Amino acid sequence: MRIDIITVVPDILKSPFEASILKRSIEKNIVEVHVHNLRDYTDLSYNQVDDYQFGGGAGMVLMIEPIDKCITALKKERDYDEVIYMTPDGVTLNQKIANSLSLLNNIIILCGHYKGVDQRVRDLFITKEISIGDYVLSGGELGAAVLCDTIIRLIPGVLSNETSALTDTFQDNLLAPPVYTRPADYKGTKVPEVLLSGNFPKIEEWREDEAYKRTERLRPDLLE
Ligand code: ADE
Repeated sequence: MRIDIITVVPDILKSPFEASILKRSIEKNIVEVHVHNLRDYTDLSYNQVDDYQFGGGAGMVLMIEPIDKCITALKKERDYDEVIYMTPDGVTLNQKIANSLSLLNNIIILCGHYKGVDQRVRDLFITKEISIGDYVLSGGELGAAVLCDTIIRLIPGVLSNETSALTDTFQDNLLAPPVYTRPADYKGTKVPEVLLSGNFPKIEEWREDEAYKRTERLRPDLLE
């Protein structure tokens, strides 16, 4: 998979890809992530990429021309399955969306900033608009990092035990069951007996039960 991210603050997108699972997936050539600075695509002085909004009002708007130039240059090199715009008024990201995006080959992610982008960008270039939740971030960059993380960890070969993404919370509309590790007894607080029994069908049954009970208690909406 290849992910191209377009942003006015590329620095925000450095560290998420320089550690742990995302770093390893890039090193293993399972995924390529390219971050493009929108300011490299403007001919205006001071590398201007934004301007006041027509009609008045506070806040700057990202202009269409540099975004058009960047997206057009990328599309000349290869076909893209989706051009995604990160925005608080997009559809809220969930596991189902992440699962389907993880099957694609090439995607562009455009990060908004300030008041957002000129509406014509959304009308002409964007195929999907995604929000990471009902709150407003300073820009789409952190949302893009969240989106990339949730997609990339699903690509086969990224997680060492491929099945482990399948047992994640939300994969079957259930929260994950509780997990424990050593010591089996910590200052008198004990790990549930069944997990030490070696009886794997029984352990599986316990986990399913606990996942259901936890979902009922914390997220009953998932069971509806
Ligand atoms: N940009 C600003 N707020 C956002 C959000 N909640 N999700 C995605 N992109 C955003």
